[in-house]
Amino acid sequence: MAGIQEMTKAALPAGVAVRALSPALGAEVRGLDLSVPLDRETVGLVRGLLYEHCVLLVPGQSLDEAQQVRFGECFGTLGRTLGTFDILRNVHPSIMYVTNEKADGKYIGALPDGEMFFHSDKCYVEHPCVATMLYAMQVPSSGGDTLFANQYKAWDALPEAMQRRLEGLSAVNTYEPGGIDTYATPISKATPSPTAFTWAHPVVRTHPGTGRKALYVNRLMTEYIVGMPRAESDALLESLFDHQEQQAFIYAHKWTPGDVLIWDNRCVLHARSNFDAGEARKLRRVTVDTEDLLQ
Ligand code: OGA
Ligand code: MN
Repeated sequence: MAGIQEMTKAALPAGVAVRALSPALGAEVRGLDLSVPLDRETVGLVRGLLYEHCVLLVPGQSLDEAQQVRFGECFGTLGRTLGTFDILRNVHPSIMYVTNEKADGKYIGALPDGEMFFHSDKCYVEHPCVATMLYAMQVPSSGGDTLFANQYKAWDALPEAMQRRLEGLSAVNTYEPGGIDTYATPISKATPSPTAFTWAHPVVRTHPGTGRKALYVNRLMTEYIVGMPRAESDALLESLFDHQEQQAFIYAHKWTPGDVLIWDNRCVLHARSNFDAGEARKLRRVTVDTEDLLQ
């Protein structure tokens, strides 16, 4: 991993330019063509930039499924969707479409509509995915932005007494597939079924690549803090949700078709703003389940 950090400091390859997306987090990388394989140095550079900035935007791409999968594999082993979400049968097993397209009156992809509260992908399993990548294919004329909140900054900004209170605590994250009407309903306000996915994770986690601490609870899926009376847990979580979603920690991304955005689920939360359900929105997603060391 040290190699990645070193390469971040190295000179950028000819034609590649990097700029910050916001004071909170994020970098835009220009001058890359992700439709062709990247050389080892460029992969090291991109991975280093992701560590440094938590979210990377690579605009102006034109990718088919295999090309997006190949770029995803630069970061590690991809998760498999096993066709769960698609009635379209011919998609690559690691691809998921986040889309409100319908066929025969039914949604054909995942996460079709509406606002989504802040969350971290797969936080309800033992080994959540480390990163998620979306490639924008169709975007509404307004709304449907994806928001990112820097959880290193959220942790660093907590008073020391609160940090001490949180160290060593775990919180249960729960996801009820199809069980809630909208992703703007906190799971703590719903009644999860016994078959819901659920896992307890430390409230603060140390990122293995950067060694920095990040807050790891979220409004959408964190249900309660283990071993704490429920009323106290509800109050504490509510105050953490408000804290971690402050404007100062947030970058809101307005999509343009051709944008590729990748984020690190270990140090950022993401959310989606509402949009007109009558307008088409289609993004192609892969997740990185485990990070591979650079060869
Ligand atoms: C996701 C997700 C947000 C969006 O794909 O995990 O939360 O803007 N998507 O669609
Ligand atoms: Mn998500």
